[in-house]
Amino acid sequence: MEKQWWHSAVVYQVYPRSFYDSSGDGNGDLVGIISKLDYLQQLGINLIWLSPVYLSPMKDNGYDIADYQAIDPRFGSLEDMRELIAQAKQRDIGIMMDLVLNHSSDQHAWFKQSRQSRDNPYRDYYIWRDQPSELRSIFGGSAWQYDSQTEQYYCHLFADAQPDLNWENPQVAEEIHQMINWWTAQGVAGFRLDVIDLIGKQIDQGITENGPRLHPLLQQMHQACFKDKTLVTVGETWGATPELAKLYSDPARQELSMVFQFEHAAIDWHPQHSKWQPQPFNLVALKQVLTKWQTTFNGDGWNALFWNNHDLPRIVSRWGNDQQYRQRSAKLFATLLHGMQGTPYIYQGEEIAMTNVRFESLEDYDDIEIKNNYQEKVVEQQSLSHQQFMQGVYASARDNARTPMQWDNSSNAGFSQGQPWLKVNPNYTEINVAAALDDPQSVFYHYQKLIALRKSSEFSELLIYGTYQLLLPEHPQIFAYLRQYKQQRLLVVANVSEVDQRLSLDFKAKQVLLNNLQQPQGAVNRLGALQLAPYQAIIYVLE
Ligand code: GLC
Repeated sequence: MEKQWWHSAVVYQVYPRSFYDSSGDGNGDLVGIISKLDYLQQLGINLIWLSPVYLSPMKDNGYDIADYQAIDPRFGSLEDMRELIAQAKQRDIGIMMDLVLNHSSDQHAWFKQSRQSRDNPYRDYYIWRDQPSELRSIFGGSAWQYDSQTEQYYCHLFADAQPDLNWENPQVAEEIHQMINWWTAQGVAGFRLDVIDLIGKQIDQGITENGPRLHPLLQQMHQACFKDKTLVTVGETWGATPELAKLYSDPARQELSMVFQFEHAAIDWHPQHSKWQPQPFNLVALKQVLTKWQTTFNGDGWNALFWNNHDLPRIVSRWGNDQQYRQRSAKLFATLLHGMQGTPYIYQGEEIAMTNVRFESLEDYDDIEIKNNYQEKVVEQQSLSHQQFMQGVYASARDNARTPMQWDNSSNAGFSQGQPWLKVNPNYTEINVAAALDDPQSVFYHYQKLIALRKSSEFSELLIYGTYQLLLPEHPQIFAYLRQYKQQRLLVVANVSEVDQRLSLDFKAKQVLLNNLQQPQGAVNRLGALQLAPYQAIIYVLE
């Protein structure tokens, strides 16, 4: 496989509204991000995925874009954006913009035109029909909104303030391509493509994901925007299977660098109530899914590795233990992920093991997905009680990931001098960046070590390109796998449980490369009689 710079990248996702507020208006901003670049450099990452900072009414926190080429004043100005790109570059950090191409805001000039009249030149930029179909919005309710001015319905797979763009119209593609090229000219390093698997939809056939026009559209985009450039592109594709992922990320097909697959991220969702009633964690199932993805590509695709993003609950609360073993279990999940083949993504706060939040009242939550689903499931259909729904919110809601970044133990977690747009997690007094930087054993330094191993150690090539082999597939508490590259072999072994585990592995350890417990080497290097403490994770160099 031809090597690419982004194979060896480690990405950090910034959710700007919650990262750092330099202006005191309660919203994070670009100047705030610039002021934290040294921190990110210290962590060791070399790419920032920046969630949307474009002009937006913020119905879905910037995933509703009113102008793709303007910065929302909450976040700053285009000047600030240029400064961020330049300052990041000085630290060898690239910026990956978030492209929301399936839909725009209803406040976008195109949509304002489109709804004017049926013969407006922008009418066909969006999807208008005389009658609604049965199609449901992902945020709850019908996917069709009646517009009385022209007496038709427009399609919105998300909120009604997020009308879907009509990719059947070649003009839409052309405008989008120009916009992407404009951002490339600003010096960004790449793009994350929001719900990109929806753009090939055939709405009248009820096809939304993976429509027949999807790959031709991406190939066209590649030709117009990505070809012969050193950009990295990652598509968000909720429905991807390994076979579909190859269609996107096989270099020979010239579409995207890689995709986010969500099979592992949705593994505990309820068949009917999805994330609002998660089922017990099943390690064997998780190993199966991740192993399938680890062994699926042979140069014909590339994995994006992640536990977290702005749409998912915090991993340490989800499958770890965010109380007694918070730091240790966070390090365990970090080790498991960063030991795998692919490009790892870290979501802000993950590197200090920030946890889910439990607000008493629904009022304290902001996310439109929570509100619309509450309306649908609790109020209208009554398929879940208020209590059940709140449990779902505590376990899975997106706001778990969106509470402000916890910088220190001063008021508002040092995030803002003003009133934060979303309440901070009250545990900031204990869990914060300042405390993590002060503690040589913190989760932060564990991430730093994992990144350094991948970026600049004798095991870099192995970690990036080495083969992967799962051990003990049926073991309900142990996640263990081998990585191999040329003559080198590493063993990653983790006890994903709250009880001690004894096991015997038929390998000889040369060295302990990383251990999330402080122990003398001799204590753990006998793999034939291995004893692992709760949530212990070790990387061994094998003979
Ligand atoms: C993606 C984003 C999510 C957003 C949705 C609609 O899934 O990650 O935050 O709400 O698309 O744009």
